[in-house]
Amino acid sequence: MKQTIGSDAKVVLEMKNVTKRIGNKTLVSGLSFEMKKGEIVGLLGPNGAGKTTTIRMMVGLIGMTDGDILIGGNSIRTNFEGAIKQVGGIIENPEFYPYMSGMDNLKQYQRMSPGVREARIREVTELVGLQHALDKKVKAYSLGMRQRLGIAQALLHKPSVLILDEPTNGLDPAGIREMRDYMKKIAEEEGISVLVSSHLLSEMELMCSRVVVIQNGKLVTVRSIGSGSLPEGEASSISLQVNELDAAVVALTSVKSIKQVQNFTADNRILISVMHEEIPAVVKALTDAGVGIYRIEESKSSLEDEFMKWTGGNHIA
Ligand SMILES: Nc1ncnc2c1ncn2[C@@H]1O[C@H](COP(=O)(O)OP(=O)(O)OP(=O)(O)O)[C@@H](O)[C@H]1O
Ligand SMILES: [Mg+2]
Repeated sequence: MKQTIGSDAKVVLEMKNVTKRIGNKTLVSGLSFEMKKGEIVGLLGPNGAGKTTTIRMMVGLIGMTDGDILIGGNSIRTNFEGAIKQVGGIIENPEFYPYMSGMDNLKQYQRMSPGVREARIREVTELVGLQHALDKKVKAYSLGMRQRLGIAQALLHKPSVLILDEPTNGLDPAGIREMRDYMKKIAEEEGISVLVSSHLLSEMELMCSRVVVIQNGKLVTVRSIGSGSLPEGEASSISLQVNELDAAVVALTSVKSIKQVQNFTADNRILISVMHEEIPAVVKALTDAGVGIYRIEESKSSLEDEFMKWTGGNHIA
């Protein structure tokens, strides 16, 4: 069943002013954002932005200097166990016994995890599409299969949040696509919230409904992207291809909230920045003026430009 993420969806993870200092270096500074049930959130930032550090704090591998992380309402500071048992994650490469089968690796892990029954192994391996490869030895697994085994392992204890640090690193395009599809399935079918980090906006657009952009350990912006619908009160860049450019420009002057209009005569396109809730009014204004619309889409190039602006200039820290 497909889940829709509305503004009333339950918040499952809350980062509250999280700061991490090591020595006199501030790795993460006053970072706040939240994740809702069943949503896939991207943690986006260039190399050295603080993604891994943030994730290490979220899964309880390192402590924080200031702030708090609430998972299912439990503070990682005052109720570490209650908070952490709701999180599953892969940080760096998951370790497996190469000469054991995928099944035996998961069984080994399941026996060490209190309260996890063996029947759960079937569920998680089906979720990541590994059910037919379980008898193979892990040393014969491809990188993508190994990653998915790692995700299966992270899901064994039924976490409500799954956290993956650059899960598509090193995968080929087919592997990346598979990983994306399984992540969506996990979010939709199990209602699990997934946080994935990456330094590629293009990759995030294909799987996330929102991105949290960080740079130098600080929050730059939180944006709705990709196929996820934009929330009210947020402006987006919309590209419209019309039959008559001049008439369209005149018609659009009647829509008040349009911020900027750029015309591209070569392909009869107009680029506007408009509030989400005004998009129907834009379409209506054009149709009322007798302008024919061939295409209306969110302009991705502008999102990319914006991302370069957010993170540009600052390369490897
Ligand atoms: N243990 C540490 N002590 C001091 N500085 C550290 C430590 N770990 C990371 N850093 C620094 O903190 C900053 C953030 O590192 P982090 O690994 O979180 O970035 P990242 O966004 O994951 O980068 P990448 O895309 O390269 O994985 C970097 O400048 C890094 O050099
Ligand atoms: Mg990293």
